Amino acid sequence: MCGIVGYIGKQAVIPVLVEGLKKLEYRGYDSAGVAVLEEKGIEVYKSAGRLANLVEKLGDGYSDATIGIGHTRWATHGRPSDLNAHPHSDCSGDFAIVHNGIIENYLELKEWLIKQGHQIVSETDTEVLPHLVEHFYKGDTAEAIRQVLIKVHGSFAMVALSRNHKEQMVVARKDSPLVIGLGEGEYFVASDIPAILNYTRQIYILADGEIAVIDRDGVRVTDFQGNPIQKEVFEVKWDTVAAEKDGYEHFMLKEIFEQPRALKDTLTGRLNHNGVILPEVALTAEEVANINKIFIVACGTAWHAGLVGKTLIERWARIPVEVDIASEFRYRSPLIDEHTLVVVISQSGETADTLAALREARRLSARVIAVTNVVSSSVAREANDVIYTCAGPEIAVASTKAYTTQLEGMVLLALYLAEARDSLSLEKISEIISALKEIPAQAQEILNQSSAIKDLARSFIVVDDVFFIGRSLDWSVSMEGSLKLKEISYIHAEAYAAGELKHGTLALITDNTPVIALATQMEVYEKTVSNIKEVKARDAKVIGLTFKGNDDLAKSVDQVIYIPQTIAELSPILSVIPLQLLAYYASVARGCDVDKPRNLAKSVTVE
Ligand code: G6P
Repeated sequence: MCGIVGYIGKQAVIPVLVEGLKKLEYRGYDSAGVAVLEEKGIEVYKSAGRLANLVEKLGDGYSDATIGIGHTRWATHGRPSDLNAHPHSDCSGDFAIVHNGIIENYLELKEWLIKQGHQIVSETDTEVLPHLVEHFYKGDTAEAIRQVLIKVHGSFAMVALSRNHKEQMVVARKDSPLVIGLGEGEYFVASDIPAILNYTRQIYILADGEIAVIDRDGVRVTDFQGNPIQKEVFEVKWDTVAAEKDGYEHFMLKEIFEQPRALKDTLTGRLNHNGVILPEVALTAEEVANINKIFIVACGTAWHAGLVGKTLIERWARIPVEVDIASEFRYRSPLIDEHTLVVVISQSGETADTLAALREARRLSARVIAVTNVVSSSVAREANDVIYTCAGPEIAVASTKAYTTQLEGMVLLALYLAEARDSLSLEKISEIISALKEIPAQAQEILNQSSAIKDLARSFIVVDDVFFIGRSLDWSVSMEGSLKLKEISYIHAEAYAAGELKHGTLALITDNTPVIALATQMEVYEKTVSNIKEVKARDAKVIGLTFKGNDDLAKSVDQVIYIPQTIAELSPILSVIPLQLLAYYASVARGCDVDKPRNLAKSVTVE
């Protein structure tokens, strides 16, 4: 996803911008650029491809400019190219703008600008912005931007430089994240906090509908009408080291190995002998009793966590749950009223579709609980209640520790609802709590055996297709295992409900097709084994996954991965870990770019 940085201060700006852009690389991008304010005017440098290409273009003889903006682009309108990269300029070269989001009515605006005599040179939606600013500019950039914002529809976080105001950056936000870092006589702008964490921990989080004018003396924030807004300083508590690789070859591996810690942190302070402590969810017992339906809405891996959440809530709290992909949710007229609870799950808290679903749910008067990893993210700010996962910053595009902590979030929520509705016995609750407390150490136990998975992954160097099968919660985890493998190793992978395989997909199973069969749900174990036999009979190579102590599975499969014993409902948190490791090592063995898989972005902030 596009990333924005900006700086005004005493330091030479280019190294600050480049460093900030490097910190944003994990968001995914296909081109990068910077614009700096020189005495003679605005200098723009941009390049398609990796940041290294831009750095090469910038050369060693950095300008001594101390104000500038930078951008990493993830193409939406117009292919990745030098020309389409940001910053974009107007005809006169008076303005340079970086933008994150989508200008939905850009074609109409472009046509209008062309009629006014403007020369539009790129294929992007963004380029209309500097031309519109040029059109409305009468000596005050912020005022011109206010006029522009009345014209544009869509989402944006934008930063503008003007040749006529060499000591000023103007930023604006609607529906795309943007923060302003406050230093000593210097100011930073970024779409994401890690980009500026090396310089400052004091930030303003710009809200939707705010414009800020930043000069060397400070930051003035107003709304789009120009009314002043008093911002509160937010102190970032993250550890910078937490965002580094910490000796691991890739962020993904580091994050997989961080799971015991992340799982423990997410439970900290939330369990006692009799149940869960979730003061952040402020529903009364009466409100919980009145809930007649729950929707869980999310994208990607977070959606997979939602699938597990459905089973847990229905099983323990006895409330009907539907799980929706966020991009579908608001277009299918979901039946929502004030008795509906909507749970949105989002690691970043900025995924555009999830945020839009949240807004639609609130518009229809549902209560919304967010499960998110990012404090003060848009989703967190707009939901009624927030359950934070404590995974820490997740940098690798492929989500790992965010997923397992989201699963814990689902367990906590399901237990909370069950307790409020009195739908579980005390014995059952205490059995779940005891099992939950074991989970972090059990995750470590699995990680201690990672070399066996690494060996197994070698056989994936040459495969084209892999199938994941399982029943019940094993099916939900199969989907996540399959997604992990396909997104980072580019192997075609599919997940199937084990019993459904024979209704079509079985035709694809031939000699040595790898099938990963999850068999941890003992209630349906015999049936899963029957399905395993069906693929074995077609000469598939079956890798089974079950609990330690179950020696039966080895009789039906080629190889078994064992995980520690836990209760059926918690097994997803453990069973996914070998699948994450398998995907990781397969990706490394195949020479893929593990942390930045092609075409994918960490945080998808456009619809
Ligand atoms: C992108 C990421 C996925 C993530 C999904 C939802 O596709 O690559 O890893 O699961 O977005 O992101 P969110 O931040 O809302 O959990």
